[in-house]
This record gives sequence, structure tokens and C-alpha cells, in this order.
Amino acid sequence: MKFTGFLFPAVVLGAACPYGTFKPEDPTDTRGVCPMLNALSNHGFLPRNGRNINENQTVNALNEALNLDHDFGRFLFTAGRLSNPKPNATTFDLDHLDRHNLFEHDGSLSRQDAHFGQWSRFNQTVWNWTMQYYTGDVLDVQMVANSRAQRHMRSNLTDPAYSLSEVGYQFSVAENAAILSILGDKVTQTCPKKFADFLFTREELPYSIGWKKPDVPISLTDLLRTYHDIEQATAFPPRPAHDNSTEIFN
Ligand code: HEM
Ligand code: MG
Repeated sequence: MKFTGFLFPAVVLGAACPYGTFKPEDPTDTRGVCPMLNALSNHGFLPRNGRNINENQTVNALNEALNLDHDFGRFLFTAGRLSNPKPNATTFDLDHLDRHNLFEHDGSLSRQDAHFGQWSRFNQTVWNWTMQYYTGDVLDVQMVANSRAQRHMRSNLTDPAYSLSEVGYQFSVAENAAILSILGDKVTQTCPKKFADFLFTREELPYSIGWKKPDVPISLTDLLRTYHDIEQATAFPPRPAHDNSTEIFN
């Protein structure tokens, strides 16, 4: 009896929000530019407050929630750690990822460019532009490539401060690859559009609409296959072989 008062809140809180269960962020929690890491915190795979995330927590969260293999998890953690403004940090907070033009870049799928204002959280207008290029119920490499190209083209034309570093470019392609190879199916390189919309708009894993953690572990090599296919699908088709002598503008 003596301990009831002490245990009760812990039991109730634990029952209300066990590990893995979705609970939207509290106002005191930290979130940032990455819809997937925000979701993992909302589910408690990462610390719910979004702060002081270390390598083990990152590797375990990515493995338990998404079946990323440990090497891939460690690789991704490096970007988190390096985004911490403290030198030699061994942890990061989710909003450290917001540092503009470090890893965060212009032309995001669901965030406006920093030049226009708040750039780290979901923006429905920007996401609607992206979704316009998701022309089927199941996203594939070409749709993802088209929507990515559209975002960078639009930013280039409308944002006087638009820039994209080499690292920014690589993140941009990799994030688009992640939609297909991690949220979707790494073998077919497809993802139901409703899973992407659910994740981006709610920052919740789409279990309730049929998503399941992938059965087979996902490696960096898997992501890179989709990455290169998106690059191919973005390139304007090369000219077919032709006879120069028949050309007017020769
Ligand atoms: C966006 C970092 C894991 C999917 C971002 C951005 C950063 C980032 C810095 C912002 C780029 C920008 O749009 O300006 C990280 C780190 C991770 C991680 C450090 C692991 C430690 C993941 C995973 C997925 C993912 C596992 C799987 C689906 C995405 C997507 C975006 C994104 C789709 C694009 C958001 C948008 O364009 O609006 N991430 N990420 N990320 N991330 Fe992550
Ligand atoms: Mg951005």
C-alpha cells in the first residue's frame, strides 16, 4: 500500500504510451527536418523528447522500427552527430539537423526553403506540390525523380537565395531513395503513396493503414541502388544515335 502513490503515475503513463506506441510531440519536445526521425520519436523508438540521442539509440531505433542493418544505422548516426554544433559531440538533438546548408538543404519535399521563413517543419503547400507529381497510387522511381526535380526547379526559379551543395544534393537524392527503399519495398523500389502521405503529414508510422516493418534487413547498398536509379530517371534522355550529315544546325 505504501508504494501505490509512487507507482501509480508510472504504471498509468507506461500503459498510456508504451514503447512503439504513437503519441504526438509535447510542446516541450524537440523535432526537426526529418519526418522519419520525428516519427521514431513520436513512437518512442527514439527518446520522445528528441534530445541527446546517442549512437546506440539511433542504431537500435532504426533497426527495431525499420529493419535497417547496424552498419547503415551507424553511417546515418554520423550525420546526426556532425550536426551537433558542439565539437566532438557523441549525441544530437533532432533540431540540430535543421542547420541550414549543412545537411538540410533547399528544395525539400515537404518543407519550404529557409529564405521564405520557417524551414524545418511540415508545410502542406509544399507537400501538395510534391504530391502533384505522385501520379499513381504506388510511387515508383520515375514519380519520385519527377517530384524531386520539380522541387529544385521551383526553388531555383523562385528563391533568390536557392543553393544546393554537393552534400545537399546527395541528401536530397538519398531522402527520395529512402521513401522507396525503406518506407516502401527495396526490391521493387516502390511505395504506396498513402504510406508516404501518412508519414509526412502525421509523423507517424503508417501501421494503421497496413504498413509493416520490412522483413529483410536494409543496407546502405540497398539505398544506393535506388539512389542511382533516381539519378538515371532524372537525367534527360540522351540523344539516340543519329547521322550528323542530315542535321540543319550542324
Ligand atoms: C530529411 C537526416 C533517417 C527519410 C532529412 C533531413 C535531414 C535528415 C538532415 C533534411 C533534409 C532537407 O529536406 O532539407 C537524417 C538522419 C537520419 C535520418 C541524421 C538518421 C540518423 C531517415 C530515415 C528515413 C529518412 C531512416 C527513411 C524513410 C527522410 C526523408 C526526408 C528526410 C524522406 C525528406 C524530407 C523533405 O524533403 O521534406 N533527414 N535522416 N530519414 N529524411 Fe531523414
Ligand atoms: Mg530542407
